[in-house]
Amino acid sequence: MNAPTLESPPSAVGAARLLDGRALALQVRARVAAEVAERIAHGGQAPGLAVVLVGEDPASQVYVRHKIKACEEAGIRSYSHRLDAQASEEALLELIDRLNRDPQVDGILVQLPLPAQINVQRVLARIRPGKDVDGFHAENLGRLAAGFPALRPCTPKGCMRLLDSAQIDCRGKLAVVVGASNIVGRPMALELLSAEATVLIAHKQTRDLPALVRQADILVVATGVPGLIRGEWIKPGAVVIDVGINRLGDGSLTGDVCFQEARERAAWITPVPGGVGPMTIACLLENTLEAAQNAVFIPV
Ligand code: GUN
Repeated sequence: MNAPTLESPPSAVGAARLLDGRALALQVRARVAAEVAERIAHGGQAPGLAVVLVGEDPASQVYVRHKIKACEEAGIRSYSHRLDAQASEEALLELIDRLNRDPQVDGILVQLPLPAQINVQRVLARIRPGKDVDGFHAENLGRLAAGFPALRPCTPKGCMRLLDSAQIDCRGKLAVVVGASNIVGRPMALELLSAEATVLIAHKQTRDLPALVRQADILVVATGVPGLIRGEWIKPGAVVIDVGINRLGDGSLTGDVCFQEARERAAWITPVPGGVGPMTIACLLENTLEAAQNAVFIPV
C-alpha cells in the first residue's frame, strides 16, 4: 500500500498518522552508534562533545542530562561543564576558547538560555564553526541560508528527518512556520526553502494567524504557547509538526497544537511528547559525529 500523500488525506475521522520521533530517533541513534564503533575499530578516537550549562534552569538541566546520556549510549565521550548562575561572560568565553583548542572535543554545546549578564551572540560567535554542533554560529546559519553543507540546527534538522521518513515531499507545498526564533523558526524556514517549499513565517506581529495557518500544507509550530493552534485552523490533509514542549500545572507535557482536535483534520501529526523532542537529541549525536569526521587540527 502506498503511504498517504498530501493529495490523499485520510478519509476516516481522526485518522492522522503519527510522525513517530521516538522510533525514528532510535534508528538514527543506532546508526550513529554503529558508525562510532566502526571509527574506533579502525583506530580512530571516539567523538567528544562538551556540554556547557550556566546556572540552574530546571528545564535546561533535564535537557542536558538527556543529551549526556544519549552520548554515552552512542559511544560519544561527553564532557560536562557547569558554571554558576552569576558566572561572567569572560569566564564562559575563556572556557569556550579552551574547548576550541582541545583536540578531544569535537563538538561544543552551550545550553540556552543564558543568564542575563551574558551576551548570547558573543558566546555563539566564539565557538569554532567546525565544533558548532548546534549550528547556531552565523557561519553555519549563513551556509544553511545559502544551501551549502553545514552543521545544521538540531531541531529543524530533526523535523526534516521526520518528513523524509514519511516520504513527504515538500516541493511546491505551502509551508507555514509559526515562530521566528533563531533556534527553531528561522532555520526551519531555511530547511523548508531548501526542500523547495513555499515558506511563510508567522510571528508575534502576524495578523490573522488562523487565516495563515488554514492555508498550510505543512505547518511547523514553535512558539512555546500551549495549545495555541486550534484544530479547526488545520487544512484537511495537512502535515503538522509541533515543536512545543510545554509543562502543564499537573506535570504533563503538551505541545503548541491542540493535538486531539488537529489529528481529526491532519494527514500526519507529531505527538508531544515523542515527536520532535527525541529527534533533536538524535541529530545532536549525528552532528557530533559529523564534526569529528570533518575535524582538522587548526591551532588557535
Ligand atoms: N535550548 C533550547 N533548545 C536548545 C538547543 O537545541 N540547543 C541549545 N544549545 N540550547 C537549547
